[in-house]
Amino acid sequence: MLFPLLNTPARLFANAKKEKVRVGMIGVGARGQNHLNLCLRRKDVEVVAICDPDTKWAIPKSREMISKAYDAKRKVAEYSDGPEDFRKMLKRDDIDAVIIATPWEWHTKQAIAAMKAGKIPAVEVCGASDIQECWELVDTSESTGIPVFAMENVSYRRDVMAVLNMVRQGLFGELTHLQGGYQHDLRSVKFNNGQQLYGGGVEFGEKAMSEAKWRTNHSVHRNGDLYPTHGLGPVSNMININRGNRLISLSSVATKSRGLHKYIVDKGGKDHPNANVEFKLGDIVSTLIRTNNGETILLSHDTNSPRPYSLNFRVQGTNGLWMNDMESIYVEGKSPYDQWEKSGSFKDENSYMGRYDHPLWKRYAADTSGAGHGGMDWFVINSFIESIKREAPFAQDVYDLATWYAITPLSEQSVAEGGSVQYIPDFTRGAWINRKANFALDGEW
Ligand SMILES: NC(=O)c1ccc[n+]([C@@H]2O[C@H](COP(=O)([O-])OP(=O)(O)OC[C@H]3O[C@@H](n4cnc5c(N)ncnc54)[C@H](O)[C@@H]3O)[C@@H](O)[C@H]2O)c1
Repeated sequence: MLFPLLNTPARLFANAKKEKVRVGMIGVGARGQNHLNLCLRRKDVEVVAICDPDTKWAIPKSREMISKAYDAKRKVAEYSDGPEDFRKMLKRDDIDAVIIATPWEWHTKQAIAAMKAGKIPAVEVCGASDIQECWELVDTSESTGIPVFAMENVSYRRDVMAVLNMVRQGLFGELTHLQGGYQHDLRSVKFNNGQQLYGGGVEFGEKAMSEAKWRTNHSVHRNGDLYPTHGLGPVSNMININRGNRLISLSSVATKSRGLHKYIVDKGGKDHPNANVEFKLGDIVSTLIRTNNGETILLSHDTNSPRPYSLNFRVQGTNGLWMNDMESIYVEGKSPYDQWEKSGSFKDENSYMGRYDHPLWKRYAADTSGAGHGGMDWFVINSFIESIKREAPFAQDVYDLATWYAITPLSEQSVAEGGSVQYIPDFTRGAWINRKANFALDGEW
């Protein structure tokens, strides 16, 4: 299937063409099961196959979900013969698209194999290992004509979309500075006891399960912003990155690494073997990005310390700003001078959030019930499936994925060189100048 990849507004291709999308799932662990659930709920999706080498938990749990949703006659194939079995699944000719929710080191490999097999990949978030990987994604997409969907879900968070609406309506004036990040106490995700998803022990690697099995190792060996997309994706949409604007350069610095070692000692004792592990990842990594159009973006990566969850958003312009912490907003000429206002609730039509609620949320809020992360995960799957059905360009595409993924290796390089400036490649090869914004432009999908 050849999609218009560059320079084409989504709506030019917005005629519904396909009624059903046949999906294969690669990786049905914690996150893959969320996506599986959303796919099983949709009449326009047929789950054809699942693939995961974990036959103790991931496959049986997914099988159970499938048997509850589908009648017994509908067979869903399973591929669980080791980590390369996805290649066998990709040989099937009854799969249109695949959803990749595997450990980070597999994303690019699997997305490239999918494109080469003619399947459209949706790829979960993370950062790349190196810049070469990002170019491979772009090059393969361009040479095969198969588009890639970047599964950044926070772009679809209700408050984030309302703020996007405020930005588009000029409430903050011309944007100058944005902030975002991943500030999430992941200590009980990075360590568990091998029996439960979160906490209960201080194991990681082979003795652990789910993300502690593989994610924690990145904290042992790498020091940089390892998870940039939740902060960067949403603010990129607000300033049209890769569509009239682009990221130019970054500089990153990291604090010392203390939190993970302290957690092991506090929970497992100083004699636990993992108390000897040296973690490279600084507790807080700060990355300052410069854009072509003159904005700065400050990203934070903060996953090793006790703290309430916050993605640290701040969207600031010549006329005011919004910050997600404390749900605060200030608009010159509307807010009392020098005083924060509350951004308010979607239920209150007189509040900022109520007034600027995005048309997509107004339309689909009821459908999102039960979907992960407050409903935003529903929009990710919806956007992926509806775009395929209509043969419309993805709202978050391969150029976005490559750009966001690139932050990780560049920030590692910058931290290693004491905050040196790193230049961010233009993965669109100049097409950003003429590409037009197409993220959530109206209330359709
Ligand atoms: N967007 C979000 O909000 C969000 C939330 C959680 C996780 N994630 C991302 O989703 C991805 C998966 O995370 P998770 O929490 O499900 O981890 P997980 O460890 O629970 O699941 C990963 C699954 O992939 C399987 N797997 C490993 N190698 C494979 C291979 N070669 N082929 C097929 N399957 C393979 C594992 O057996 C496991 O079941 C990661 O990239 C993570 O960062 C995103």
